[in-house]
Amino acid sequence: MFVLIWVTLIFTVRSNSANSDVSKKPSVMIPPLTEGQQATVTCTAASLCSGSDPNITWMWRGIEPNSSYSTENITASQGPNSTLTFKPSAKHHNTTITCTVSCTGNKTTEEEETVTLNVHYVKKPEITGQTTVKEGDALNLTCTVDSFPASVITWTKHGVNKSLINETGPGLINDTGTSTLVIQNVTAEDSGQYFCTAKHPNTQTQDINITVMYEKKPEITGDTTVEEGQVLNLTCTADSLPPALITWTKHGANTTLNNGTGAATLLIYNMTPEHAGQFICTAENMNNSFIEKVDITVKVLPKILNGSRCEVQSEVLTCVCISQGFPLPTIKWPLLENLTEYSVTTTVSNHTITSKVILSVEGSSGTSADCVSRNKNGEIKGNLIVNKAAEEGQNMKLFRIVTQLETIITFLIGTVFSASISCLVWICCRYAIMISTGILYFACA
Ligand SMILES: *[C@@H]1O[C@H](CO)[C@@H](O)[C@H](O)[C@H]1NC(C)=O
Ligand SMILES: *[C@@H]1O[C@H](CO)[C@@H](O)[C@H](O)[C@H]1NC(C)=O
Ligand SMILES: *[C@@H]1O[C@H](CO)[C@@H](O)[C@H](O)[C@H]1NC(C)=O
Ligand SMILES: *[C@@H]1O[C@H](CO)[C@@H](O)[C@H](O)[C@H]1NC(C)=O
Ligand SMILES: *[C@@H]1O[C@H](CO)[C@@H](O)[C@H](O)[C@H]1NC(C)=O
Ligand SMILES: *[C@@H]1O[C@H](CO)[C@@H](O)[C@H](O)[C@H]1NC(C)=O
Ligand SMILES: *[C@@H]1O[C@H](CO)[C@@H](O)[C@H](O)[C@H]1NC(C)=O
Ligand SMILES: *[C@@H]1O[C@H](CO)[C@@H](O)[C@H](O)[C@H]1NC(C)=O
Ligand SMILES: *[C@@H]1O[C@H](CO)[C@@H](O)[C@H](O)[C@H]1NC(C)=O
Ligand SMILES: *[C@@H]1O[C@H](CO)[C@@H](O)[C@H](O)[C@H]1NC(C)=O
Ligand SMILES: *[C@@H]1O[C@H](CO)[C@@H](O)[C@H](O)[C@H]1NC(C)=O
Ligand SMILES: *[C@@H]1O[C@H](CO)[C@@H](O)[C@H](O)[C@H]1NC(C)=O
Repeated sequence: MFVLIWVTLIFTVRSNSANSDVSKKPSVMIPPLTEGQQATVTCTAASLCSGSDPNITWMWRGIEPNSSYSTENITASQGPNSTLTFKPSAKHHNTTITCTVSCTGNKTTEEEETVTLNVHYVKKPEITGQTTVKEGDALNLTCTVDSFPASVITWTKHGVNKSLINETGPGLINDTGTSTLVIQNVTAEDSGQYFCTAKHPNTQTQDINITVMYEKKPEITGDTTVEEGQVLNLTCTADSLPPALITWTKHGANTTLNNGTGAATLLIYNMTPEHAGQFICTAENMNNSFIEKVDITVKVLPKILNGSRCEVQSEVLTCVCISQGFPLPTIKWPLLENLTEYSVTTTVSNHTITSKVILSVEGSSGTSADCVSRNKNGEIKGNLIVNKAAEEGQNMKLFRIVTQLETIITFLIGTVFSASISCLVWICCRYAIMISTGILYFACA
């Protein structure tokens, strides 16, 4: 108990001596300073100049080296208490004000007090970092907020309800003064508007629009099988940012068929089998180029070509059917049904098939023969008129018959003649033999 009283006594004595020192100095009273809100700072001369009027001057340091308050919109009043009225701003923060009191008529008495101003302010957050990021790279944004006291900074994204801050994740860090948002391995979905908010009595927000550049493989849409005469209508689209340059080419050819940005449509009217082949879509974006290929087939309905014909010669019917189509058609001859003896030869070149049928016809052959050409796109029947080789053919036949008859007659005549000779020879011989036999007999007898 005694010790406590002794300690208290000493403290009181020291405190009194300090108080007497302070009382000689002017005291400066500063209210809380907030940016934009007018404030009054008071300097009290106290009991420095007993009797005489104090001369109070203000000195402001820190704004500019040794600059006076007079350059600012500051009003100061004289009197035993001098006031300084001004509108604080961020530039006043951490500056010092010195109040000097001198007593009139006694130049040697001069005391001063210097105080540091703390102005509550917040400036607009500043975001630094790349606004365009390639897919797979890291988004790295730093938000800096100049404020007093330091702000709590949060990052949010437009359309995303939750805060980007994640205590465990690598994303966002709540920080004071500065905060860095890092998103590794960005995707197209990370594109968008990001907000950096500085929490303060005056909350400030800054946004930044992030573009994630990405490139996807081009896609080709449209029918890859086109009927002859129809239109080929292919569209190649590449989802990428910035939009890719799309180019259509054909395999083996060096000419650009069409191009466009983002998408390009290839139109070829009146397709022919020659148009079939591989078409190539190239999408060029940034430094990459993607290629997508498509094989186009041209459906060709079978057709019977000129040169198909039927002919009868020597009771032999020869028919030729030439047909074209894609895929290559097959040729059928209905007249061959129920027949067993015939020959069919088929030759194929390009998209053309030639079928040749040979069969013998006895007596009357029909006046026409059908040839049916079929592929998976359809079939066509050609009615080939049998060319009976007209009058010339008849004469030839007649001639042949006559010739045959002649041969027979000649043969018959020849036979009769030779038979007669042989007969004569035979008779003569007989007689001769008889005579000679008789002579021999006679002689022998
Ligand atoms: C007060 O002090 C300033 C600077 O020391 C001086 O210029 C001014 O004349 C003084 N004013 C009076 C009334 O003494
Ligand atoms: C002083 O105040 C006036 C009126 O309020 C204003 O137009 C002027 O810009 C201010 N000057 C400075 C240096 O703040
Ligand atoms: C000067 O300031 C002191 C301390 O705040 C106060 O007690 C006193 O009344 C003031 N005097 C005048 C004239 O304003
Ligand atoms: C305030 O000013 C002092 C001296 O001018 C300087 O050393 C200090 O770094 C400043 N503080 C801030 C937060 O600006
Ligand atoms: C002038 O200053 C001296 C020394 O500081 C002091 O002793 C004296 O009382 C002062 N005179 C008046 C009139 O205040
Ligand atoms: C983010 O960018 C800053 C400044 O460019 C750099 O210092 C920091 O290392 C980067 N952070 C990451 C994770 O890349
Ligand atoms: C970051 O700030 C938000 C909003 O003030 C708060 O909800 C969240 O808990 C803070 N996260 C961290 C890690 O400080
Ligand atoms: C934070 O991030 C980690 C890893 O990215 C994730 O596993 C976790 O679910 C996240 N937590 C919240 C609350 O979003
Ligand atoms: C980046 O993301 C993609 C798709 O989510 C993934 O396939 C890839 O492995 C990731 N790369 C890294 C380095 O995390
Ligand atoms: C970001 O985009 C939005 C709308 O898309 C626009 O209102 C805003 O001004 C943009 N921000 C910046 C910093 O360009
Ligand atoms: C090509 O196809 C697109 C989409 O199917 C269609 O809108 C367009 O009219 C077609 N163009 C022609 C010339 O057929
Ligand atoms: C393709 O065309 C380009 C430009 O017209 C030309 O420079 C190039 O030599 C051509 N290549 C071939 C293989 O024809």
